[in-house]
Amino acid sequence: MGKYIIKGGNKLNGEVFVSGAKNAVLPILASTVLNSGICILKNVPMLLDTFVAIDILKDLGCDVSYGENTIVVNSKNMNKTNVKEDLVKKMRSSIIFLGGIISRFKEASICYPGGCNLGKRPIDFHLSAFEKLGIKIEDNQNIIKASVDTIKENVINLPFASVGATQNIILASVFVEGKVVIKNCAKEPEIIDMAKFLRKMGANIYGEGTHTITIKGVKKLNDLVEYTIMPDRIEAGTFLCMSAITKGNVKINGINPQYLKSLLDILIEMGCNIYTNKDNIKIKVDKTLKPVDFLETKPYPYFPTDLQPQLMALLATVDGISIIKENIFEARNKHIPELNKMGCNIVEDNNMFIINGVDNLTGEKVYSKDLRGGASLITAGLFAKGKTTVEGACYINRGYELLDKKLNILGADIKYIKD
Ligand code: EPZ
Repeated sequence: MGKYIIKGGNKLNGEVFVSGAKNAVLPILASTVLNSGICILKNVPMLLDTFVAIDILKDLGCDVSYGENTIVVNSKNMNKTNVKEDLVKKMRSSIIFLGGIISRFKEASICYPGGCNLGKRPIDFHLSAFEKLGIKIEDNQNIIKASVDTIKENVINLPFASVGATQNIILASVFVEGKVVIKNCAKEPEIIDMAKFLRKMGANIYGEGTHTITIKGVKKLNDLVEYTIMPDRIEAGTFLCMSAITKGNVKINGINPQYLKSLLDILIEMGCNIYTNKDNIKIKVDKTLKPVDFLETKPYPYFPTDLQPQLMALLATVDGISIIKENIFEARNKHIPELNKMGCNIVEDNNMFIINGVDNLTGEKVYSKDLRGGASLITAGLFAKGKTTVEGACYINRGYELLDKKLNILGADIKYIKD
C-alpha cells in the first residue's frame, strides 16, 4: 500500500510545475484505439492509473511503449474487444474504453466497473446513450456486451453533465453516418483536451467546453498523431490548498488560472493573496484567513468535487464555521473521520459538511481511502504538530506524480515509504 510520513509546521515556499492531467490522459489513451495507427502522447503523468490504462491497451493487442512522460501507442494490431476484468476492477473509469472499441469493431464487452470509495458509480447514462445510437446492450449486471451494425445519428440529452458519459458518447460517435449532438454535456477542461486530441486525429468534433458538443462522422483517421497533454488543474488546486494551510508563498507553473477560477475566487474570499499570469498562479498567505459560509460542488465551471477534500482540510484550520455541500458523489466523505482523528471538528449531515475551524492539529496515523481524500490528509499533515503517517499511499499515487519530491522542493518535510 505504501505511506507518506509528514512532519508538519514548515511553510511552503518556492516554485513547482504540475504534471499532465490524469483526467485528460485517461480518455485520450482510450481514444488511441480509434485510428489503428500510432499516437505519441507527451507530458503524460506516469501515475498508477496511467499504467492501468497502458495495461488495458496492451491486453487489447495494442503495442505500447513509454518513458520520460511520453507514451507511444500503436493500435494497428489491436485484436480484442473485451476489457480485462481485473484491470476494470482497478480503475472504474475503464468504462470509457467501451466507446472507442465499439466505434472501431462494432462490438465490445466489459465487466461492471462497480462502485468505489466515493459510493455507487452507475453507468446508466453511458448505456442509455449508446442505445440511442443504435447500439444493442446486453447487461446481466455483471458483464455488459455491446454490439451494433451501424452507429445511428441522434441527439442525446444527458440527464446530468456526466464527464465519463460525455467522453464515451464522443468516442462511440467518431465514425457515425451523419452526426451526433450531445446536449447538457460536461464542460470540463479535460473534455476540451480530449476533443483537441481527436481533432488532431482527424475527427470532426466541435462545441467542446459548451453545453452542446457535435460530432460529424468521418470515414478514416490519421495514422500518426502527436499530442501534448494539458496540465493537471486538480494537482494545481491541491498545491494551492497545501500552500494556504502552511501560510506559504508558492508559484505554480504551467497552469491556466482560468481552469481554477472557482477555487481562486474562494481562496481570495478567504483572504489569500492570489496573483495570476496566463500560465501560472502565485499564492501568498500573510493574514488570518476567513471561513466560507457555504460552498457546494457542481460540474465545471463551478467548484470541483475533486478539490472538496483538500479545501476541507484548509477550512478545518480556519477559525469559524464553514459549510460544504457535496452534490456529485454520494460518499466523498471517507476523509472526514481521519481528519477528525487529527483534531479537526467536522460534522456530517448527509452530504452537508459543517467544518468548525480549530487552531491546532496533531499528527496521527491516518488512512487514505481514496485519491483526493488522501491528498486532504497530507494537506492536514503539513499543518499538524508532529508526525502524520498517511497509510494507503497507493490511492494517492493514482493521481499525483512525484508528490513527495515536489513538496520537498517547496520545503515540506515529507517522505514516501514504499511498503
Ligand atoms: C470523472 O469521473 C473524473 N474521473 C472524476 O475524478 C471526477 O470527480 C468526475 O468526473 C466529476 O468531475 C476521470 O475523469 C477519470 P461523472 P466520472 O460521470 O466520469 C453519476 C478524481 O478524483 N453518474 O461526471 O465517473 C455518478 O455516480 C476522479 O480524479 C450516474 O449516475 O464522473 C456521479 O455521482 C474522482 N450515471 C456523477 O454522475 C452515469 O451513467 C458524476 O459522475 C454516470 C455518472
